[in-house]
Amino acid sequence: MTHRDRPRRLRRDGVRSLVSETDLEATDLVAPVFVDATTDERVPIESMPGHERVPVADAVDRVEEVLATGVEAVMLFGIPESKDSEGSRAWAEDGVVQRATRAITAETGATVITDVCLCEYTDHGHCGVLEPDARDDPTLTVDNDATLDLLARTAVSHAEAGADVVAPSSMTDGMVGAIRDGLDEAGFTDVAIMSYAAKYESAFYGPFRDAADGAPAFGNRRHYQMDPANGREALREVRLDTEQGADVLMVKPGLPYLDVVSAVRREFDHPVAAYNVSGEYAMLHAAAEKGWLDLDAVARESLLSLKRAGADLIVTYFAEDVARGL
Ligand code: PBG
Repeated sequence: MTHRDRPRRLRRDGVRSLVSETDLEATDLVAPVFVDATTDERVPIESMPGHERVPVADAVDRVEEVLATGVEAVMLFGIPESKDSEGSRAWAEDGVVQRATRAITAETGATVITDVCLCEYTDHGHCGVLEPDARDDPTLTVDNDATLDLLARTAVSHAEAGADVVAPSSMTDGMVGAIRDGLDEAGFTDVAIMSYAAKYESAFYGPFRDAADGAPAFGNRRHYQMDPANGREALREVRLDTEQGADVLMVKPGLPYLDVVSAVRREFDHPVAAYNVSGEYAMLHAAAEKGWLDLDAVARESLLSLKRAGADLIVTYFAEDVARGL
């Protein structure tokens, strides 16, 4: 070895931290919280060890647990007391997310981000209202334009309850513009939109759909969520959301789509979020349970990789565990 350039020099203790390119901080993380109107007790989510559905009465306690780790933001998902074809409990003033948001913002200093979607609220489990023959015709699913107004109403009801940020996740074309208009008309010009701008039709959402009881009763989401084969299309999706007023651009899932995170980072100036989804969490837990992986180490490395790819913030079920270790 005669070569004079030795990258190893910079890996020595005391030097390596000086040249480290990426930092992971608790304040970059968002912890998902599931609030369930159908239960009076906390219910563990089997496929997501360490996570629970909590009753509205426990929402504040649950968020206090998150805050104690140094994580400052939560993403709320709701399981409503009842479902119907339109998902009307999604925008109810006394809905599960609305009640939880009121309590959390009144009693804690947490930043509240709410998921804006209808799939947990519709009896068919799709992310919007259905086209008339959708149940019988596999080429049909969600009526895009009829869904827009319902998403806007849902977002406004979350803002009225005190949400700081709304996060539309239904991949409805035009959703960001419709929600921005709705929020502005209702006077919520300061409520930000974190758009699930490039959300793929991914098999990695399996455990979440158990957790939030949001699996489609028939068909799948391929008509509105993105084809995993497409990378360039993600930039087009993201561009449309920026034109409609998105404040933060999210890519979802995270680890299988690092190329997309990185491309969005390069092409746009907006903050970029990555969603380290339920399947990414579950698979590491399953392997760790078998003794095949060191859970803390792989969790941390996963989040570091998302940041290195270009994410400014990460929604992750590991938020509390990783934050505790920082
Ligand atoms: C709602 C929504 C989903 C997730 C977040 N918001 C489910 C889906 O699109 O099927 C998935 C999150 C995860 O897997 O962690 N549309």
